[in-house]
Amino acid sequence: MDDPIQLEAKADWSSCSNTKKEKQKLAHFLFSLSLLLFLNFQLVSSKKWDGIIVTQADYQALNAFKHDLVDTRGVLRSWDNSNLTACSGWTGIKCVNGQVIAINLPWRGLGGRISEKIGQLQALRRLSLHDNLLVGPVPTSLGFLPNLRGVYLFNNRLSRSIPPSIGNCLVLQTLDLSNNQLTGIIPPSLANSTRLYRLNLSFNGISGPIPVSLSQSQTLTFLALQHNNLSGSVPDSWGSKSVNLSSYQLKLLSLDHNFLSGKIPASLSKLSFLEELNLSHNTIEGEIPMPLVNLQNLSSFDVSYNNLSGTVPSVLAKKFNSSSFVGNNQLCGYSSSTPCPSPAPENNLPTPSQGAPQAQKKHRRKLSTKDIILIAAGALLLVLLIICCVLLCCLIRKRSASKAKNGATEDPKPVPAAGTEAESSTETGGKLVHFDGPFVFTADDLLCASAEIMGKSTYGTAYKATLEDNNNQVAVRRLREKITKAQKEFELEVSELGKIRHPNILALRAYYLGPKGEKLLVYDYMPNGSLASFLHARGPETTIPWPTRMTIAIGITRGLCYLHTEQNMVHGNLTSSNILLDEHNNPKIADVGLSRLMTTTASANVIATAGTMGYRAPEFSKLKHASTKTDVFSLGVIILELLTGKSPSEATDGLDLPQWVASIVKEEWTNEVFDVELIRDAPNIGDELLNTLKLALHCVDPSPAARPEAHQVLQKLEEIKPEVPASGDDGAAEVPAKSE
Ligand SMILES: *[C@@H]1O[C@H](CO)[C@@H](O)[C@H](O)[C@H]1NC(C)=O
Ligand SMILES: *[C@@H]1O[C@H](CO)[C@@H](O)[C@H](O)[C@H]1NC(C)=O
Ligand SMILES: *[C@@H]1O[C@H](CO)[C@@H](O)[C@H](O)[C@H]1NC(C)=O
Repeated sequence: MDDPIQLEAKADWSSCSNTKKEKQKLAHFLFSLSLLLFLNFQLVSSKKWDGIIVTQADYQALNAFKHDLVDTRGVLRSWDNSNLTACSGWTGIKCVNGQVIAINLPWRGLGGRISEKIGQLQALRRLSLHDNLLVGPVPTSLGFLPNLRGVYLFNNRLSRSIPPSIGNCLVLQTLDLSNNQLTGIIPPSLANSTRLYRLNLSFNGISGPIPVSLSQSQTLTFLALQHNNLSGSVPDSWGSKSVNLSSYQLKLLSLDHNFLSGKIPASLSKLSFLEELNLSHNTIEGEIPMPLVNLQNLSSFDVSYNNLSGTVPSVLAKKFNSSSFVGNNQLCGYSSSTPCPSPAPENNLPTPSQGAPQAQKKHRRKLSTKDIILIAAGALLLVLLIICCVLLCCLIRKRSASKAKNGATEDPKPVPAAGTEAESSTETGGKLVHFDGPFVFTADDLLCASAEIMGKSTYGTAYKATLEDNNNQVAVRRLREKITKAQKEFELEVSELGKIRHPNILALRAYYLGPKGEKLLVYDYMPNGSLASFLHARGPETTIPWPTRMTIAIGITRGLCYLHTEQNMVHGNLTSSNILLDEHNNPKIADVGLSRLMTTTASANVIATAGTMGYRAPEFSKLKHASTKTDVFSLGVIILELLTGKSPSEATDGLDLPQWVASIVKEEWTNEVFDVELIRDAPNIGDELLNTLKLALHCVDPSPAARPEAHQVLQKLEEIKPEVPASGDDGAAEVPAKSE
């Protein structure tokens, strides 16, 4: 368990020429124990689970913790002594080696307080009690927990001030105390947590200034302090602690709805990753600093309802609409109704900014020697000041450079930002590689993700994992180790699979190689399940209209066509269980290329068994290898499934589905083959049904040579139903791209 985790950054790629270039999203990912343990447990569930008794200290702490809670719904009933092996029976508790590593009890209606005894759970990594009714303070003893990575206590009624001791949690990544009744100040010590990545203290009653230390953090990515009583000015030291500005990762800075005053600091322009800046509803004055226009990634900007003045830089005025600027009486130039006064002619009253040079001109001739001496002295002072500044800068640079050096040896790297490459600490062995994708999740998110089995196949078991922090879901496939290729070959193949992006192909987002040879593939999770269950496991009152079926057929064919023509790949195991549906019922082909990850013998076995389910082309029994033509056969079976509503595994008079359909068509009872609910609509769609049936029968022709290619099937389907639009992009394009 002690090999370093390696994170690999993959450069962006654009094999899909039509999709937007995308930078990879990569997050600190100490993929760790729980999910793996869970998965392991599932796999060895036949073996006896030899539980390890919880340590005495943790047992006492849990009891004290329970004692201080008010559990009106009885969710903690399972916490009793008779049930204490390996914590396995305790709701919301996860243990490793007899120590509690996670408390996950969100949305349980829990009242009462969080016991200070929680500081006794020395192995605790995650404390998640958000969306409950907890009162009292945030325990000071959290500061005694050296392994604490995530604290999620938002949406409760916690009060008092934030304990400064939390800064002692050196590996803390997320602290979310938002939407409570906290008061007091923000402890500057929070910045001592040098891995802190998300700090959310919004919607509380916190007062005092924003600690300068936070503005210098090199790991903070999300800083949300909105809706508090913060005062003082916004610190002007953003990005001031390092030579290398790209080490600042802040993407979101929300300071709105406070009592901040002073000016907008120009140093914000050093935060090159900044995407969202909200300073609205404060009393900030002065002009909007020109350097802010350099923030290339800024996609949301709000300075409305302040006391700003002057001209809005035209770049910002163009990029953001007036709602970003309204409520500032003296601000101009952001909309046609707020024109800035034009340069003043001689006689008019000059505006302050244009007035200065003019006034100077007028006075130039009347300078006395006294004035000249004063000016000279002033200039000298200025020069001295500049020299001082330069010296100071040099000193600071040197220091921070040497600090960085020291840091590299003692202190593990902080959470890396998207697009950077990072090696992380030696907590768990293994290696995680991310491809592009819409999720940014930390290790901690997956650490205690709850997982449930979705299905098992020859390749291994598929799980649905819920990243509890933000409720994002991913599908995880654990491959059977015995049948996968050796690591080098595996990685070569899987990195090719990670590049495949098509709206009708399930996207592979990441893979993980465990220290003991575990191999996990992380995919997008598809909420609507498989086409097989959509078609065959629905209630009697659920109908699937023809246009939906046709959209699915066309989508699958588009995906297959892309595989065959653009990727030069054969699927080899296309079935309606391998077609997944997204929330709009757009089909996505799953298990693409899995056979490439398997040893040759294993993949031959998988292919050999594919026929048992009724999708196997007849030539398979002799040739035993897949081709584009065998894929087209399987596609034909799936289209027949859509037309008939029958599953190929239901034996129909001893015939397989293609044979059955063919036999009925031969006897000219064609209408009998269609799903009854389609027949009701037959007057309108009769031709479409018949033409689609013909095409499907063409696909399942016993002779491979007679079958069309996938692109010909697509062309035909699009002729039959020309109005089906291409499904949207794969969702990844919504993520703002990061430029370096
Ligand atoms: C912070 O918390 C608020 C309230 O709970 C939530 O709406 C917001 O999305 C959070 N922001 C971040 C960056 O965590
Ligand atoms: C902000 O402007 C308003 C009206 O424009 C004024 O009443 C208020 O005193 C100003 N506040 C500060 C802090 O300057
Ligand atoms: C301004 O833009 C935001 C999104 O950037 C949008 O939600 C809002 O409706 C727009 N407001 C106006 C007045 O156009």
